[in-house]
Amino acid sequence: MNLGKKVIYQAYPRSFKDTSSNGIGDLKGIEEKIDYLKTLGVDMVWVNPFFVSPQNDNGYDIADYYHVDPLFGTDEDLASLIKTFDKAGIGLMFDMVFNHTSTSHEWFQKALEGDEYYKDFYYIREGKDGSYPNNWTSKFGGPAWNKFGDTDKFYLCLYDKTQADLNWHNPNVREELYKIVNYWIGKGIKGFRFDVLNVIGKDGRFIDSSGDIGEEKKLYTDTPIVHEWIRDLNENTFGKYDDIITVGEMSSTDVHNSALYSNADGRELSMVFNFHHLKVDYKDGDKWTDQAYDFDKLRDILNHWQREMQGHGGWNALFLNNHDQPRANNRFGDVKNYPKKTATMLGQAIHMMRGTPYIYQGEELGMTDPNYESMDYYRDIESKNAYEELLAKGVGEASAFKIISKKSRDNSRTPMQWDGSSYAGFSDVSPWLKVNDNYKKINAKDALDDEDSVFYYYKKLIDLRKKELVISDGLYFPILKDHPHIFAYIREYEGEVLINLNNFSEKKVEVRMDEILDSYEEFTYLLGNYGKKDMEKTITLNPYESLAFIKRV
Ligand code: GLC
Repeated sequence: MNLGKKVIYQAYPRSFKDTSSNGIGDLKGIEEKIDYLKTLGVDMVWVNPFFVSPQNDNGYDIADYYHVDPLFGTDEDLASLIKTFDKAGIGLMFDMVFNHTSTSHEWFQKALEGDEYYKDFYYIREGKDGSYPNNWTSKFGGPAWNKFGDTDKFYLCLYDKTQADLNWHNPNVREELYKIVNYWIGKGIKGFRFDVLNVIGKDGRFIDSSGDIGEEKKLYTDTPIVHEWIRDLNENTFGKYDDIITVGEMSSTDVHNSALYSNADGRELSMVFNFHHLKVDYKDGDKWTDQAYDFDKLRDILNHWQREMQGHGGWNALFLNNHDQPRANNRFGDVKNYPKKTATMLGQAIHMMRGTPYIYQGEELGMTDPNYESMDYYRDIESKNAYEELLAKGVGEASAFKIISKKSRDNSRTPMQWDGSSYAGFSDVSPWLKVNDNYKKINAKDALDDEDSVFYYYKKLIDLRKKELVISDGLYFPILKDHPHIFAYIREYEGEVLINLNNFSEKKVEVRMDEILDSYEEFTYLLGNYGKKDMEKTITLNPYESLAFIKRV
């Protein structure tokens, strides 16, 4: 399978389309939009977890991996969705949350009842010196341990306290997880996204960290046994088929491990998500800060990952948006003065790189962060905890709120903007999370009626990836490596050369093409968000302009 020719769309079911009038999106809503997805031209749709769950972390706390949560519909709805997608030739990618289960899962409940077999499914440990088993912290704030029922023991929970980490050292746990994947393969599922898969390899001794968060993560991230377990998972499940796409969500990973996880030898996964390029607006590594993004870092990280993954046989998932990130348009562009140019430039920057692009719902419309007026509008557990922690640290309410409004995951979770009717056509009742006020200006209906829309630009980007081998299969070479505003690269495939220039600033910037390309005159226009331009010795890029040229053989 040529992963370079695939484009994957991400549907966050809760916010995609509500057909049951409960204010929450559902599986029928995704099925209903099949024509929209077909028009866009994507190959596969990754659907975030819709399995039975208490929804403390919007479904990433799974209580039953085999059934649909009533919030999102029924098992019959799912069967129908699978059938419809199959007919349309669009694959479905399911989200497998295997680092932890909900504490409501039967396994955890049985463990709580004292069942020794299931107790060994989790990390349950004695406290130490009247406190927790060790000093690790949860990624959602507070300690990484929580009291195990009314015993004096604790269970490990690296995320929310209702998400108990699974003990992968136990072969019975691994067998159960294989069963789940094989069950869904049997139902015709062609893609799997594995949630935070690189933190499954905890060392059962649970030694204390130095207290430094970076050091602490190293104790449980990308440990060598993770590769072993992923290979076992591969051999026992999807590795038996050649038409299944897998992606690992890798938290705080490095390029060396990522190249192994996604190596072309096919022993582990098809590709990985890494997040380093989305931490360029963190201050000293802390997400919960108000900091302008550092373009130099963004450009360098993107180039580094492209080159290193290429050099070591790895494969990148390409993305700037997902359900855990604020909208890239707000972070890296100017949504006030250049909303469309921002959206199309960011799209073109990503879509011509080496890897498999992911489009997060609404990205193809140029959706933006909602600018809520108060904390009352936020729903996300991580954002709420972070707000409380900021206040506890002495950050004033106004500053804390400003930070949340920039960094909250709810920024991208606002309901999909389908049209200009009430609630943006997402639902006919008030949705679980407030719709962005700009839905009358930014919505799918208008985009489909306007050939100059962001939507059709994305469609062109997808078409090009299917047509141009230089995009799907070419090598990647960074150019203008130290430029303060331009992120640019060359792709090369059997003599064919593509150059893609992206201006990440509101300034006009001149680029000397004769200094970059040997025979610049031989290049012709391929795509640009300011329309057709001829190749010239000196090219002036407009604010947030993207411009690609190609030299054919
Ligand atoms: C991943 C998911 C995120 C979730 C976390 C814990 O990062 O993308 O939404 O909160 O894992 O499962």
